[in-house]
Amino acid sequence: MKKFFITTAIDYANGTPHLGHAYEKVLTDVVARFRRLMGDEVFFLTGLDEHGQKVQQSARAKGIAPQQYVDEIALEFRNLCARLTISNDDFIRTTETRHKSVVRDVLQRLFDKGEIYRAEYKGFYSTRQEQFLQDKDRNPDGSWPEIYGEVTEITEANYFFKLRAYQEWLIEFLRKNEDFVFPRYRQKQVLEFLSEPLNDLCISRPKERLEWGIPLPFDEDFVTYVWFDALLNYYSAVADRPGTWPATYHVIGKDILVPPHAVYWPIMLKAAGIEPPKSLLVHGWWSINGAKMSKSTGNFVDPIAFADQYGADALRFFLIREMSVGQDSDFSNAQFLARYNAELANNLGNLVNRTLNMANRFAAGAVPAAEVEEDAERDLKALWAKTRDDAIRLNEEFQFHVSLERTFAFVTATNAYIEKRAPWKLGKSAETRDQALLRTSLATMAEALRLAVTLLAPVMPTTRDKVLGLLGATPAGAWRAQLEWGATLTGAKVGQTAILFPKPNSPAS
Ligand code: MSP
Repeated sequence: MKKFFITTAIDYANGTPHLGHAYEKVLTDVVARFRRLMGDEVFFLTGLDEHGQKVQQSARAKGIAPQQYVDEIALEFRNLCARLTISNDDFIRTTETRHKSVVRDVLQRLFDKGEIYRAEYKGFYSTRQEQFLQDKDRNPDGSWPEIYGEVTEITEANYFFKLRAYQEWLIEFLRKNEDFVFPRYRQKQVLEFLSEPLNDLCISRPKERLEWGIPLPFDEDFVTYVWFDALLNYYSAVADRPGTWPATYHVIGKDILVPPHAVYWPIMLKAAGIEPPKSLLVHGWWSINGAKMSKSTGNFVDPIAFADQYGADALRFFLIREMSVGQDSDFSNAQFLARYNAELANNLGNLVNRTLNMANRFAAGAVPAAEVEEDAERDLKALWAKTRDDAIRLNEEFQFHVSLERTFAFVTATNAYIEKRAPWKLGKSAETRDQALLRTSLATMAEALRLAVTLLAPVMPTTRDKVLGLLGATPAGAWRAQLEWGATLTGAKVGQTAILFPKPNSPAS
C-alpha cells in the first residue's frame, strides 16, 4: 500500500472557526477520503496552533489563563471536524507535551550544530504581527502599512536561525522539484521571493514580552517564535509513528505559502537533517458577499450553523463544487441556495425519490433484474464509464469541482433516461415487452444511482451511506470494483421514499 500523509494548516486558537477553516478541512478530507478509497494507507492530521501573542492577548481579554482559553477553543475546532465529518486520524495541539518535546529537541539539535546564534538586534517591531519589519515593508511614503499596527524601534538580544545559508540550496531544491508547489504557478512566486537575499530568522521572543510559548532549551529566558513552533507540528505529530514522515501534502491557504511553508519549513528540516515534505497544496481564499470575511462587520459564515441547517454534505458539496482549487471564490447565501436547490434537491434528491418510489410502486420494493439493453441503456452505461474515468482522473489532479460537475451531469442524464423510459406509462401496460422494459428501467435507475453516490463518496460520505442503505446495497470489495456497472442490486429491498435535501422551509424527513 502506498503511504499518504496529508495535513491541514493548524488554525490559530485566537477565535472561533470560520468558513476558511472549514473549507481547508473539507478539501483535505476529500483528498484523504479519495486516496483511502483508491487503496492508499492514509494518515490525515489536523490541529491547533495555540501559542503566541494573539492567544495570550485573547485570553487576557477574557480574564482567563491561556491554557484554559485554548482548551475551550480546541473543543470548538474538534467539534467543527466532527460536524463536517472530517476523517482526520489525529488532532495535534501545540501545547501538548508530545509536541513541545520535539520542538525543544529540534532546537537543541540546531543549536548544537551551530545553525542558531545569539545576536543583538535593533529594529522596527510590529506587535500586531509579532515580527521585526524591514525597510522593504514600508509604504512608499515611509510609513508602515496598517496591517502592522503600532510599530516601535527596539533593541534586544535574540536568537537567529541561519536561513540565508540555505538560500542557494532551496533554489536548487525547487528547480529539481518542479511539483513541490501545486498549483505550479505558485512555485514561481516562491522563486521570485528567493531572488532577493534572505535574512536570518529571529526565532526567539524574550519572555518579558511573550510568556505563552515553548521555552528555548538552551536559554529559558526566551520562548520560541510561533511559526518555528507551529510548523514543527507536522513532524512532532508523527514522531512516534515510524515511516509516516515525510508528508505527502501540506494543504495550506495562499497567505501562508511564502515565506513560512515554502521557505522556513524546508530550510528548518534541511538544517536539522530531516527529509522535506513532498509537496504543498495551496488553496485560495473565500470572500463573503464579495467582501473580506470579518466577524466584527457581521460578514461572517458560521460553518456549523450551515451544516446544522442544510446537512454537512450540502456544505461540503458547495465548497468543493464552487471553488477551483488554488483560485479564490465567493460565498453567498443566494449562490449556496441556487446550487442546493438545482443540484442537490432537484437533481440528485429527485433521482433518489423517484427510484425508491417506483421500485415500491411497480416492483413491490425490490430491485428487479435488467432484461433488455437498448440504446437508452447502452448510452447511459457508456456515459457512466466515461464519467467515472474522468472523475477519477480529475480527482487525482485536484480538479474536484469539475469532477463533481461531471458526476452531476451523469445524474441529470439518469433523470433524462427515466423521462424517456417513463416507467409510470410502462406500468400501465400489460404487454410482455413493456413489462420487461419496466423492470429494466427500474434496475437501470437504481444501478445508476448506486454508482453516482459511490463516486461522490469523497465529497458526500453521509449521502453515499444513506442512499446505499436505502437501496439495500451492501458495498463489497475495492472502491474501483464498486464503480463497475453490474447487477449487485438485483433483489435488494429498497427503503421508503426519503427526502435527502429538503427545500428550505419544508420539513426534513
Ligand atoms: N496558525 C497558522 C498556520 C500554521 S500552520 C503550521 C494560520 N492560522 S489561521 O487560522 O490564520 O489560518 C489557518 C488556515 O486557514 C490557513 O491555511 C489559511 O489560509 C486558511 N484560511 C483563513 N482564512 C481563509 C479564507 N477566508 N478562505 C480560505 N482559507 C482561509 O495561518
